[in-house]
Amino acid sequence: MKAFLFAANWKMYLSTRQELEFFNQHKQELFELAQTKNIAIFPSFTSLPAITQASKEKNLHVGAQDCSNHQKGAYTGQVSAQSLAELGCSYGIVGHSERSIFGETADIIAQKAARLIEYALCPIICVGETEEEYNNKQTIAVITKQLQPVLDLLTTYQNPHFCVAYEPVWSIGTGKVPNLEELSIVIHYLHALVQEKYSSQCVILYGGSVTSDISGQLATIPELGGFLIGGASLDFQEFKKIVLY
Ligand code: PGA
Repeated sequence: MKAFLFAANWKMYLSTRQELEFFNQHKQELFELAQTKNIAIFPSFTSLPAITQASKEKNLHVGAQDCSNHQKGAYTGQVSAQSLAELGCSYGIVGHSERSIFGETADIIAQKAARLIEYALCPIICVGETEEEYNNKQTIAVITKQLQPVLDLLTTYQNPHFCVAYEPVWSIGTGKVPNLEELSIVIHYLHALVQEKYSSQCVILYGGSVTSDISGQLATIPELGGFLIGGASLDFQEFKKIVLY
């Protein structure tokens, strides 16, 4: 079993200047923490060159919040997996629900994951139901449908390493978190689903309002392999508490 992953999704909370200030202020501690803990940070695209450069030879992983589903070509404004690999990124988030307004289908998300794998980056593939779907008890059906194209496409790669992040849409940034029993069922289900095809190469994460108040309890779920942490990751003392739970 790999070390529990703490993935910090900085979203677009800060500008590039502010992200670099935040990073420079805390990088020594981050590098030290990353010696014993498995930590990945996800700044904005524009901060990646400086942050990947500064993190070279350190154990801290750096990833992107998205990537193109295309290899290269006339795709204005998109960033390719190849560019991320050249910068030294080791992870990429795909399918985050905050991107669903851009009309991403499950097939496009699968293609993005495939592009990352082709360049030896580990995709973090996000799945999760809306509040309405949760209330209608459709969680398992929804996340299965979201994940299936990814699982199908990735069979064409040898030993793909990837993470699946269960992120209920109603939990992201709201302070609402599924109870331990509900979450255990979903994590167990996802683990079994990917385990069928990919054995130990896939890690299941949870994301959605993770704070230090609940992280210790959630981390007791046996098949949980890490957290995807949004808002709390930009409060460095809070992030440290989560990592050192
Ligand atoms: P949150 O975000 O921790 O702020 O809820 C998690 C995410 O969107 O990845």
